[in-house]
Amino acid sequence: MAEFDLAIRGGTVVTASDTTRCDIGVRGGRIVQLAESITGASREIDASGLLVLPGGVDSHVHLDQESGPEIRMADGFESGTRAAAAGGTTTVLAFAKQEKGTSLRDCVMRYHQKAAGQALIDYGFHLIVSDPTPSVLNQELPALFADGCTSFKVFMTYDDLVLNDRQLLEVFAVAKREQALVMVHAEGYDTIKFLTAKLEGEGKTAPYFHALSRPQLVEREATHRAISHAELIDVPIMIVHVSGREPMEQIRWARGRGLKVFAETCPQYISLTADDLKGDNMDISGGKYVCSPPPRDHASWAAIWEGLKDGTFQTFSSDHCPFYYDSPEGKLHPKAKTSFRYVPNGIPGIETRLQILWSEGVAKGRITANEFVALTATNHAKMYGLYPRKGTIAVGSDADIVLWDPNRKETIRQDILHHGADYTPWEGFAVTGWPVMTIACGRIAVEDGKVFSRPGDGQFLRREISPYVRAA
Ligand code: URP
Ligand code: ZN
Ligand code: ZN
Repeated sequence: MAEFDLAIRGGTVVTASDTTRCDIGVRGGRIVQLAESITGASREIDASGLLVLPGGVDSHVHLDQESGPEIRMADGFESGTRAAAAGGTTTVLAFAKQEKGTSLRDCVMRYHQKAAGQALIDYGFHLIVSDPTPSVLNQELPALFADGCTSFKVFMTYDDLVLNDRQLLEVFAVAKREQALVMVHAEGYDTIKFLTAKLEGEGKTAPYFHALSRPQLVEREATHRAISHAELIDVPIMIVHVSGREPMEQIRWARGRGLKVFAETCPQYISLTADDLKGDNMDISGGKYVCSPPPRDHASWAAIWEGLKDGTFQTFSSDHCPFYYDSPEGKLHPKAKTSFRYVPNGIPGIETRLQILWSEGVAKGRITANEFVALTATNHAKMYGLYPRKGTIAVGSDADIVLWDPNRKETIRQDILHHGADYTPWEGFAVTGWPVMTIACGRIAVEDGKVFSRPGDGQFLRREISPYVRAA
C-alpha cells in the first residue's frame, strides 16, 4: 500500500509566515509530511512553477439566508460552496439568521438542514441574533456555543435585525460570559432612516442614492458606539465589512486604548466605488452594486490598503450575499423601482475574493504573498476557532490546498463563474493570479474550473472558542 494518498510535488509552499520549496504528503485527508522530496503516493500532482497556498477560509458568507418577503438568495449551500471551491476557498463560515419572534436553536437546526448533504466544502455557522430574549441570552446562546457555533453577528441597522443599545449591551455581556466572538454590523439605523426619508422626499430614489443614505459618518458613529459598548462590557469585538478611513480611525483609536477590536474588509472596498451604483445613466442596473456599507471612492481604497498592510484588518472576506439581478425576487423586485431602499442589499463575491486581492495586492506590490495568506485564510481560522486544522499548511492540518498560478491573467466574467447569481459586479475586471486547482480535505475539488467535489463532501465544522476571546 502506498505511504501517501496524494503527493503535491515541486511547488513553492506559501504560509502566513514562510515561503518554502517543499513537497506535501497527504493521507486520510490530512497533511502528514512536508519534505524536500516525497515519493510513494497513490497519486502525484505536479505543482512546479506554481504556488501552493492554504485553501481560502471565507469567514463572512450568506447562503440560503431568508431575506424578506418575495426575495430569494441566489446561492444555497450547493452552488455557494461550488463557487467558493472554484475560487480557491475550502472553508466557509455562513450565517444562521434568527427571525424575530423565533427560537435561535430552531433557526440553527433549519440551517443545518439547508446545508446537510449540499455543501461541497467544509462549513461552519455564525449565529445572527435579532431577538435577544432572556431564553436566547441565557439558554440558547450558551448551548449553541457549546455546539461549535462560537461567534455571532449583531446589527445596528436594518428593520428586521437592528438591536438597540440596551440589547447590544446585553448580548455583549453574554459574549463576555460565554467567551464568544461578537461580529458587529456598524451602521447607524436612525441616521440611515432620516437620510433615506430626506432623499426620497427629494425624489432621489435611484440605486445610487443608497450610497448617499449611508455615508461614512454613519459607519464611523456606529463603530464608535459599538466600541464604547465593548469597552464598557470589556469584551472583544470584530467590526465587519469596514469600508473606509473613518471607521478605521475609530478602530485604531480603540486599539490605542488597549481594546480588543478586530476588523474585516472585503473586495468591494478596494475595487468598486459609489459611482458604480449609478448604473447606466442612473438606471436600476446600479442595483447590482447595492450592498451595505456601500462601496466608497478611490481615497477609501487607499485607506483600506494602508489598513491591510499595517494590521488594522485581520481578515479579508467576501461578504458574499448574492441576489439575482434580472429577477423580481432579486434586484429587480417591483418595489425596487420606487426606491433604492427596496433593492436587496448584498453582492456576490465568494468566487472572486482571492483573485481580486492577489491581483490588486500582491501582483501590484502592495502586500506580500504571506500577508495575502494571512488575510484570506490563516487569520480567519485563528479568529474563529479553526486553527491549525484550517488556514495553514502544516503537518496535522486538513489537506485544504490551492495551487495558485501567480502569473495567469484572466478577465472576470459571469460566464466563467460557478455561483448562482446571474451577474458579477466585477464583469470585465482584469486580474493577474488564478487558482488552477483546489484540494479540499485531500480530494481534488476543482481543476481548471471543472468541479469534481460533490454535494455532501463538505462537513459541518464545530469550532473552538476563538483564542482572541478566550479568557487568560
Ligand atoms: O449588503 C450587505 N452586506 N448585505 C449582507 C448582509 C450584511 O450586512 O452583511
Ligand atoms: Zn453586515
Ligand atoms: Zn454580510
